[in-house]
Amino acid sequence: MGFRILGTGSALPARSVTNDDLSEFLDTSDEWIFPRTGIRSRRICADETLDDLSVEACRLALEAAGVTPDQLDLIICSTTSGDHLIPAEACAIAERLGASCPAFDVSAACAGFVFALDVADGYFARGRAERVLVVAAEKMSRLVDWEDRATCVLFGDGAAAAVLGAGGESPLAMRLETEPSVDILHVPGIGGSSPYDRTEHPANVLAMEGRRVFKFGVNAICSSVSALCEEAGVSVEDIDHFVFHQANERILSSAVSRLGIDPARVARVLEETGNISSACIPLALDRLARSGELASGQLVVLVGFGAGLDTGACLLRWE
Ligand code: ACO
Repeated sequence: MGFRILGTGSALPARSVTNDDLSEFLDTSDEWIFPRTGIRSRRICADETLDDLSVEACRLALEAAGVTPDQLDLIICSTTSGDHLIPAEACAIAERLGASCPAFDVSAACAGFVFALDVADGYFARGRAERVLVVAAEKMSRLVDWEDRATCVLFGDGAAAAVLGAGGESPLAMRLETEPSVDILHVPGIGGSSPYDRTEHPANVLAMEGRRVFKFGVNAICSSVSALCEEAGVSVEDIDHFVFHQANERILSSAVSRLGIDPARVARVLEETGNISSACIPLALDRLARSGELASGQLVVLVGFGAGLDTGACLLRWE
């Protein structure tokens, strides 16, 4: 038994920070950032918590799905930057929604939303759930080093959610992969204050080898799309919408030209959001759904890739 997406929702912080705003305190410029990344501005939390954004995204998804919190059987949150280390972000969301189902987090960096869909699919397959809320919530502004112009300009904050119902055709294909490598993209954990700990604790801010991530991202998109099409017995031309992780416009355009696909079928949100890690894919999906661009029966490919190095890809039927 598969699932179908019953409704989506998303929420971004009110504060938009432009490239020009960043150049007020960093040695950077719109002329450097935009051509290399496709990003003009990003939304950064000022007065909102990540809990606030997550709950708003979930409420909108539940409303679109016509589902109430007490009808949920499971809440899965994808995050690496939640408001809480303990408990899971999903538990904080459940409390604010008034839901009483099991709730836990999935940590797979930018691929997390697709990993969470795969976990949800397992619950449907085992007959353990009828309705699952999957939310991706990221406050990347707390993980970046705001003095490092090579990384802080790339990221933003936001949350997006989807309510899944049992009994649909999706996923037509699903593929999760890990090429283990910590240093390419890494945020060290908190050091703590144990009097026994004699190990080193690097600053817990994001560090990245940009060019290696670039190559990995383009390959992850291209190999995933081919593998999904083969598994489902469809051709790339049959796919109506491609929703790839929004790391960088140059990664997207390299993959699009290598795959030979129509750029108009590739979702793009990053110009005004930056890279929101695992929230990019459900945010782009929500924008497509609300703009009426998704029609029943269409095929949608999702590919998330990032730290790990994790790749999560799936082929959905929009129903
Ligand atoms: N403004 C001005 N100059 C900058 C900036 C900036 N924001 N950032 C870096 N520079 C400078 C560097 O200091 C360096 O100067 P130097 O030669 O005098 O030392 C020069 O630009 C080149 O720096 P690199 O870090 O080598 O920059 P690169 O050309 O690799 O471009 C970029 C950086 C755009 C991030 C590139 O590596 C890239 O496209 N990476 C793809 C990966 C990516 O986007 N990751 C994001 C998230 S990861 C994920 O979501 C999976």
